[in-house]
Amino acid sequence: MEHLLHRAIRGQDDHLLDLGCGDGTWLLRALQAHGGATAVGVDISGEGFDHVLSEAARLGLADRLELRRQDVAEYRSARKADLVLSVGAAYAFGGLLQTLNAAREHLTEDGLLLLGDCFWEREPDAAVRAELEDGPQKYADLPTTVAQVVADGWTPIYGYISTTAEWDEYQWCWTGTLARWALDNPEHPDSDLALQMSTTHRASWLGGYRGFLGFVVLLLRRTPPPASTGVS
Ligand SMILES: C[S@@+](CC[C@H](N)C(=O)[O-])C[C@H]1O[C@@H](n2cnc3c(N)ncnc32)[C@H](O)[C@@H]1O
Repeated sequence: MEHLLHRAIRGQDDHLLDLGCGDGTWLLRALQAHGGATAVGVDISGEGFDHVLSEAARLGLADRLELRRQDVAEYRSARKADLVLSVGAAYAFGGLLQTLNAAREHLTEDGLLLLGDCFWEREPDAAVRAELEDGPQKYADLPTTVAQVVADGWTPIYGYISTTAEWDEYQWCWTGTLARWALDNPEHPDSDLALQMSTTHRASWLGGYRGFLGFVVLLLRRTPPPASTGVS
């Protein structure tokens, strides 16, 4: 994460916008490393905001971080961002190209986009594909994904492909945190549902898309329009 942020943030006073920011951890890390940077994170959930905001206060960063609980599709700001992040949230916009369009609206002229999205590492069988593509978002293999981004007017200047170990860690944390909460709170009305969600997700990952679905983070700049030849 630090490695990507280091490449993505160019000035100490850059303004960052994270669309679908989760609890805001990426922004907190970015502000820690970049003295005068400011950041806004937008997420429909707000889960974990309190923790990250109290961490920001403890570290003396509170006046540079704003976390907003809002639908990214509705978020508007007069202030353009030097860096827009959207990691694992393309489904909130309806897909990759819609995410690129939204990011473009929020970026300064020479701003950068840090975009994280899934791709098919290997061709899945029909059942796995149907399960993972049951919403508006469809995935492609990595070369096709990058080609779609390039065709939309962006140039990748860096990229990072998650390893299987990183994917496994993410999935164990996701399912394990939910399961642990359910077991710790058996009297809570949502306990059974949480345990069932954890079990279902784990089975769908281990028995389905593990090894098929990949995740890539691309650092993108807008490709300048081709220079005019002057020939009319
Ligand atoms: C896979 S998580 C990624 C979170 C974070 N970017 C990260 O890398 O840890 C996707 C996030 O998108 C958020 N999200 C989904 N739909 C959204 C929407 N319409 N507006 C804002 N956030 C949304 C979810 O609440 C969730 O926090």
